[in-house]
Amino acid sequence: MVTTRTPLIAGNWKMNLDHLQAIAFVQKLAWSLKDAKHDFSSVEAVVFPPATDLRSVQTLLDADKLELGLGAQDLSSHDSGAYTGEISGAFLRALDVQYVLVGHSERRTLHSEGDDVVASKVAAAHRHGLVPMICVGETAADLEEHGPSAVPVAQLRASLAEVPADAEIVVAYEPVWAIGSGQAATPEQAQQVCAALRQALVEIAGPERAATTRVLYGGSVKSSNIASFLREPDVDGALVGGASLDVAEFTSIVRFRSHVGV
Ligand code: PGA
Repeated sequence: MVTTRTPLIAGNWKMNLDHLQAIAFVQKLAWSLKDAKHDFSSVEAVVFPPATDLRSVQTLLDADKLELGLGAQDLSSHDSGAYTGEISGAFLRALDVQYVLVGHSERRTLHSEGDDVVASKVAAAHRHGLVPMICVGETAADLEEHGPSAVPVAQLRASLAEVPADAEIVVAYEPVWAIGSGQAATPEQAQQVCAALRQALVEIAGPERAATTRVLYGGSVKSSNIASFLREPDVDGALVGGASLDVAEFTSIVRFRSHVGV
């Protein structure tokens, strides 16, 4: 792995844990990482709780000076106004949220978010000083029809249509067939697509931007396979769903460098 990119481990809680459960969970996680003497400057760890938990988690992180990062799972493409149920990037920023997921396959599929919506949400995140974590990935049918990289690369290109080339982003490659299935991609598959995504970034934003942008793998990541992904040169971390809801598992994933053979 290129040392200039600090690995990032992101825990996407999805629609799990209410604000009271979130407080208890983050306290336990902070203790667990502290016990393990985790160095946050060598591996960044970020949690993505549901929107109703963000204020509670932010207050806790602030009060206890915890080094965990805070992310949101979604944002509106609009800044304010008559958009019932939507959450502005400005409100997230006011809660010290640093990252926001955009284009997760569950939103693309269950909420019909196409490339145009994803691009406008990436632009909204950028406007408000949030770093969009842009999720891209192919379905099993896409893989069969187009091969491994075509769909994720096309999604990434489309998602960047409305932001300047130097906008800070994180890319998360999540094959749809690997999410929540227990069937992760192989490290070689992840490397192949992450390298193709980085090459696309070279073309879009130049070699320097591409060299400093983190490209994560996501889809059935757990403590037993994380190290194999992070050994690949173009995989800079992981977006973790199910396993991020277990303190011991998530701690072990964040602590992947302590695993044997890394
Ligand atoms: P999973 O989910 O780790 O449960 O497969 C990943 C994600 O959806 O971000």
